[in-house]
Amino acid sequence: KSIRTSKVACIGAGYVGGPTMATIAQRCPHIQVYVLDISQSRIAAWNSDQLPIYEPGLDDVVKECRGRNLHFTTDVSGMVKECDIIFVSVNTPTKTRGLGAGRAADLATWELAARCIAENADGPKIVIEKSTVPVRTAAAVQRVLEANEKPDVKFVILSNPEFLAEGTAMKDLEKPDRVLLGGPEDEDGQFALKLLVDVYANWVPREKILTTNLWSSELSKLVANAFLAQRISSINAISMLCEKTGANVKEVAHAIGLDSRIGPKFLNASVGFGGSCFQKDILNLVYLCESFGLPQVAAYWQQVVDMNEVQKHNFTRKVIDAMFNTVNRKKIAIFGFAFKKDTGDTRETPALTVCSLLMSDGAILHVYDPKVTREQALQEFRDHRLEFDFEKQFFWEEDAESAVQDSHAILILTEWDAFKGYDYSLFRKRMRKPAFLFDGRNILDHDKLADIGFEVHSIGKPP
Ligand code: NAD
Ligand code: UGA
Repeated sequence: KSIRTSKVACIGAGYVGGPTMATIAQRCPHIQVYVLDISQSRIAAWNSDQLPIYEPGLDDVVKECRGRNLHFTTDVSGMVKECDIIFVSVNTPTKTRGLGAGRAADLATWELAARCIAENADGPKIVIEKSTVPVRTAAAVQRVLEANEKPDVKFVILSNPEFLAEGTAMKDLEKPDRVLLGGPEDEDGQFALKLLVDVYANWVPREKILTTNLWSSELSKLVANAFLAQRISSINAISMLCEKTGANVKEVAHAIGLDSRIGPKFLNASVGFGGSCFQKDILNLVYLCESFGLPQVAAYWQQVVDMNEVQKHNFTRKVIDAMFNTVNRKKIAIFGFAFKKDTGDTRETPALTVCSLLMSDGAILHVYDPKVTREQALQEFRDHRLEFDFEKQFFWEEDAESAVQDSHAILILTEWDAFKGYDYSLFRKRMRKPAFLFDGRNILDHDKLADIGFEVHSIGKPP
């Protein structure tokens, strides 16, 4: 039986599965795309006007393609049978218990997806790792699939890690820096790779489609995230030195970024990086290095995560120190709870650490975020087993102005563009004095704020 290429499926309708498949559907009108998930509520949301994730530009593409050649369904087994090309984009969180807890990737969802494919396959299938997985996962998946092989059923596993960033996912997918495809070096593997190259070649220039062996592709994804996060931890580490010496981290970042070998991107010092992946993927890399007997390599990368923790704690300490060493019963306005702008995602957001440390010290927080709901933020605290008196210390506001009323301080924790346009002199009038402003993202004009009368603290610049 030959591979049918007119239909593809994707198991996992999340931040990656949804936007990537919507893009394939838009760019390949001749392919029917089925996005599958076990979560009924998620699929119902994908089929409604209120998509389950906020991503600029996503609504339009889904509207254009849904029902035409883009379908969202919970019929996972049925569509796995129907389609010969199956992407797997399920979540791969950090293990919370057992061997490697807190560091290793939890591949339980992946194994379930693989078993579901094995059970329902009645012909050859190409299974594509879209999720970020530890290097050599394809070997494990191959074993699960092969152990369940039937006559006429053959599986080829490919690796196709995703490099999109939230908030810019649709642009990243439309014009990727590169598409990475890894596959087995035998004939079947090379044939499968070619089929997948042909899918992407519908809109990605051929020279940007890279093919490698499986392990290089799997590992490159972890390494890309590790390098990106390392740049942030590096500039954040330098921001601490700037605060001690009178240097300004923005000027330092600009000066070093002009060196074409260093480059200007991803050098914004901040309250710390967040998001579902950087920490998870580096911890996974650390765990892998340890498992392969490379403790020094493991320790080297572990520092990237450790420095990020230090940065979040330092920022909070700076807030408490400046406010006369106590925030007990003080109202503080929090601007932003998402882990970055243009997303409603709060996974591993630095706001979680900062807010919980401040609440431990008795602060009363009034939070405003354009895309996050209070329930979602509370769930984040629960997921991290952080319990506070949320009824008395954690309030959600519909706008920034209400958050600011009678507050002692404003904390900018997400770099939403809207935060730059506010009338801060009006805000100051509504606040207790001295009015503090802590810019955890360095997005505001600090000299102007100081002229208005704020006591301003930022990242990497002495007050
Ligand atoms: P997500 O949690 O948003 O989505 C995963 C979906 O998979 C969920 O809806 C879940 O219900 C579904 N699922 C789990 N097990 C299933 C099963 N057996 N059958 C059917 N559906 C199942 O996760 P995400 O953010 O989309 O990330 C997915 C993967 O992509 C992860 O490995 C992540 O590291 C990687 N990644 C994420 C991003 C990002 O920006 N979020 C970017 C690049 C790579
Ligand atoms: C990141 C990578 O950029 C993607 O390439 C990758 O596919 C994705 O992880 C993944 O594997 O999940 P994402 O986490 O969505 O994407 O967003 P980023 O733009 O990388 O930002 C991550 C965090 O770093 C955010 O909290 C952001 O505010 C922070 N950041 C970013 C800084 O503090 N400074 C910077 O200069 C850049």
